Amino acid sequence: MFDTGRIEFFDKVGTPFWFYDMDILRETVGQVVAMSEKYGVKAHYAVKANVERRILEYISSCGLGADCVSGNEVARALECGFSPEDIVFAGVGKTDREIYDALKAGIGMFNCESLQEIFIINAMASRLGLRARVSVRINPDIDAHTHAYITTGTCENKFGISPHEFDALVDLLGKCANVDFMGLHFHIGSQITDVEPVYSLECERAGQIVSWFESRGLEVKNINLGGGLGVDYDDPDGCPVPDFRNWFRIISEKLVRRPGQQVHVEPGRSIVAQCASLISRVLFVKVGETRNFLILDAGMNDLIRPALYGAYHKIENLSACLRPNLPQSQVYDVVGPVCESSDVWGSGRLLPLSVRGDLMAIRSAGAYGQVMSSRYNLKDFAPAVYSDDMHGARLRTEYF
Ligand SMILES: Cc1ncc(COP(=O)(O)O)c(C=O)c1O
Repeated sequence: MFDTGRIEFFDKVGTPFWFYDMDILRETVGQVVAMSEKYGVKAHYAVKANVERRILEYISSCGLGADCVSGNEVARALECGFSPEDIVFAGVGKTDREIYDALKAGIGMFNCESLQEIFIINAMASRLGLRARVSVRINPDIDAHTHAYITTGTCENKFGISPHEFDALVDLLGKCANVDFMGLHFHIGSQITDVEPVYSLECERAGQIVSWFESRGLEVKNINLGGGLGVDYDDPDGCPVPDFRNWFRIISEKLVRRPGQQVHVEPGRSIVAQCASLISRVLFVKVGETRNFLILDAGMNDLIRPALYGAYHKIENLSACLRPNLPQSQVYDVVGPVCESSDVWGSGRLLPLSVRGDLMAIRSAGAYGQVMSSRYNLKDFAPAVYSDDMHGARLRTEYF
C-alpha cells in the first residue's frame, strides 16, 4: 500500500491523519457489485462503518443501497446520493423524530426491532397519511463465533424479536393498516470469519423462520441476511479485498429462495476496513525497566477499537522502509498519548528500530475508525487525506 512516493508525501502532512486508498475502495466495491449482479443479491452498505462523504458518494454512485441506524445517517445517505427507496433504517431505538423524518423521506424500509416500534411506526404513518414498509428483525439465536461485543444474534441480545413474541407479532401486523409487511431481517454479528458454517446456519435458520411466517399467511417478499463478513487484520496487503465471491456463493447455495423473493446483505466493515490507515508519528521512545515504549501522536480518541474491543491492528514503521540499511528490530509496546492505560496500539510488537519522528501506519482502520473518533482529552479530530488528491491540482490544502 505504501510506496516511496506515498511515504515522502506523508512526510509533508501533519499527523495524525486518515489515509484513504481509493484504489482499494474501488476494487472492493467493484467486487461487491459484480457478485451482487451474479447472484441477484442486493447489497446495502452499512453506513455506520464509515460516514465520510467521499466514501459514501462513491459507494452510492456504484448502485449500492444504504443501511442506516440513525436519522442522521439516513440524512447523510440522502445527501450523498442514495435514493430514498434504496435506504433501509435499522436500529433498536429509533426516536419519534427519526421515524417521522424517514417516513416523510419515503425510505425503502424500516427494519423493526420490537413490537412497540411497529405500533408507533404504524400510528405515525397513519397520522401522516402514508404507508410504511416494514421488515422485522428476528433474533435467530446464532452464535457468530466473533467478539462478544459484536455478536448480535444470540438469544441474550437486545436486538431483534425472539420466537416467544412471534404470535403477538403476527396479530399486531394484522392490525397495522398503514404498515406493509415486507419481510424478515437477520443480523448475527460482525467480523465473521467462519464464513461457511456460520452463514450456512443463518440461511438454514432463516429458511425455517420464513416458512413459519408463511404458514401464518404472511408473504415474505424480502430476506435480509445481515452478519458482517470479516476482514484480514493480520495481512491487509495480502488480503486487501475480502472474499465476497465465497460469501455470496454460500448465501445463494444455502438459502432456499422463493420465486421473486428479494435477498439483501448489509456489509460495512468488509467494504471500507482495508482502504484506510491511520498515519501517525512517534513522539517519544521511552525505555522502561522491562519494556520499550513507542509513544505515538494518534490515540484511542482517533481509533478506539483496540481500547474498546482489544482489537488487533497491524502497525508498520513507514520511515524505516526508507532507511538505506535494513534496520535492526526491537520489541515495543506501541501506545497513544491519551491519559488512559487502555490507550495501547499493541503490546510486544516486533518493529524496526524506531526513532522520534518516524511515520507509523495503523492498518485496516477504515471501518469503525474515523466514525468513532472523539475529542477526548480535547484532542483535535484527525483529518482525512485521499489517495486521489495526492497529485497535482486536486490536493486539498485545507486538510493540512
Ligand atoms: C444492523 C447492522 N447492519 C449492518 C452491520 C454492519 O456489519 P459489518 O460492519 O460487520 O459488515 C451491523 C454491524 O454490527 C449491524 O448491526
